[in-house]
Amino acid sequence: MEHQGFTLWFTGLSGAGKTTVSRVIEQELRARGMKVEVLDGDVVRENLSKGLGFSKEDRDTNIRRIGWVCQVLSRNGVVAIAAAISPYREIRDELRGKIENFVEVYAECPIPVLAERDVKGLYKKALAGEIKNFTGVSDPYEPPLNPEVVYHSDTETVQESAEKILRKLEEMGYIPIEEKVRV
Ligand code: ADX
Repeated sequence: MEHQGFTLWFTGLSGAGKTTVSRVIEQELRARGMKVEVLDGDVVRENLSKGLGFSKEDRDTNIRRIGWVCQVLSRNGVVAIAAAISPYREIRDELRGKIENFVEVYAECPIPVLAERDVKGLYKKALAGEIKNFTGVSDPYEPPLNPEVVYHSDTETVQESAEKILRKLEEMGYIPIEEKVRV
């Protein structure tokens, strides 16, 4: 049976676990026989959005491009997973209006925890004023008001967050119900 496509849209601050959790979902859905493509902000910015910066205008362009790719993939039966900060609510809602099966996932994590973890060393620089317009520090982040899923990467394990998302997708009828998560 051909599976129904949908767009799983992660939003959240840098370091909140969008990439990590999206990759677990990718593996799990592949194991369930679905076609999946992840559009990760850092990767997209190396190719499709190469040359774009972090002004509001450039971020909006980046997000609309990712949204368009998700739209064409998901209408062809592919699960499109977007993992970009996507800080502006208006643009996310614009995509929700355009993309038929749109599921928004908010990767929530308090800034002090992100600054403490600082996997890429960017928060330290941003807090020292060395990076301008850094999301959550010197640039806005507008959390979603009604996301389908919220996970808290400071208090949940990656596995717990992934399961939360998978259960929601099952509940919404986008994926078949399975007792056990494989990955
Ligand atoms: S978005 O705002 O356009 O959605 P995107 O997810 O593609 O952002 O890229 C964010 C990544 O770019 C961060 O994880 C980080 O590694 C890097 N980055 C570099 N400068 C900034 C900045 N000023 N604000 C946020 N992230 C930045």
